Amino acid sequence: MTVLLTGGAGFIGSHTCVELLSNGFDAVIADNFSNSSPDVIKRCEKITGKSIRYYNANVADGDAMRKIFSENRIDAVIHFAGYKAVGESVEKPVMYYRNNLDTTLTLLEVMKEFGTDIFVFSSSATVYGNINPVPFTEDMPTSTTNPYGTTKLFIEKILTDASCADKNLAVVLLRYFNPIGAHESGLIGENPKGIPNNLMPYIAQVASGKREKLHVYGNDFNTHDGTGVRDYIHVTDLAKGHVKALEYAAKHKGCEIFNLGTGTGYSVLDIVNAFEKATGIKIPYVIDGRRAGDIDESRADASKALRVLGWKAEKSLFDMCADTWNWQKNIK
Ligand code: UD1
Repeated sequence: MTVLLTGGAGFIGSHTCVELLSNGFDAVIADNFSNSSPDVIKRCEKITGKSIRYYNANVADGDAMRKIFSENRIDAVIHFAGYKAVGESVEKPVMYYRNNLDTTLTLLEVMKEFGTDIFVFSSSATVYGNINPVPFTEDMPTSTTNPYGTTKLFIEKILTDASCADKNLAVVLLRYFNPIGAHESGLIGENPKGIPNNLMPYIAQVASGKREKLHVYGNDFNTHDGTGVRDYIHVTDLAKGHVKALEYAAKHKGCEIFNLGTGTGYSVLDIVNAFEKATGIKIPYVIDGRRAGDIDESRADASKALRVLGWKAEKSLFDMCADTWNWQKNIK
């Protein structure tokens, strides 16, 4: 099966590309490298020993997508490409809606033209909003607190409607919890441009000396130590979930939603402690005020993915921290 990975040079896309190639799939990447680089693809080739065809293309550009579909027999699409910074989405909502929705709509149109009928989407636990008790199950009501999250929710709805209307279409919506870590080779990982928005990349940059100290956003949450609790998942485990999702979609039409998380929650201070233990590096921190929109706890009920896909996260928090550092320490 040949799979088109939009945003395949990004953090989750590149790890998924490696897992696909290691499991006998062929991969084609479409990426405009707005937040990544072609060098990542070379590294994926080095890890897998296989060559990867890629296109420097904007996924919203129908003609660019038609060229890819006409030059390759694409059996399935995994759609990772998209803007993903929460704060930026509040400042530039139109840019977020334009980009994240247009790319999805273009893909659906071009897939229909070429008879490609498997669509796996990178959604997010952000769609559970601030209205649900943990752990989150796939049938809970959805809501969002920022435009980034709303683009994820709108795309889920677009894909659900498309699969209702087209009985040939198989859609899988994967709701990621908090992906961290890096490939065990240390060759690929997360390397955000500018100041990291997310916790683990920030901690990794403190460890490498690029940032002075971590700012912990609030210690008055309703959690065991007052800091926010999240369900962190190793990016390699997450990538393996995509392989299972594709295998499922190849056999089932319609639309299914799966949480990809571990089911275990860790606080910000748990993560700091685990990182220090795994690396031997002290992470200085200060307690700051809360960040707008943050909730006490986000945690998956991951039982549906186990039951239906036969998938479950295997790697420990120690692995997530050690692999993050194994990658980060080599970044200049
Ligand atoms: C965030 C997004 C979510 C998105 C996900 C992608 C928000 C509200 N949510 O999730 O929509 O899908 O990233 O990975 O932004 N923290 C600190 N200091 C920091 C950074 C984070 O204390 O410098 C804390 C946060 O308050 C939170 C935890 O660390 O309790 C995790 O934060 P983060 O890594 O940004 O992920 P989420 O906020 O869960």
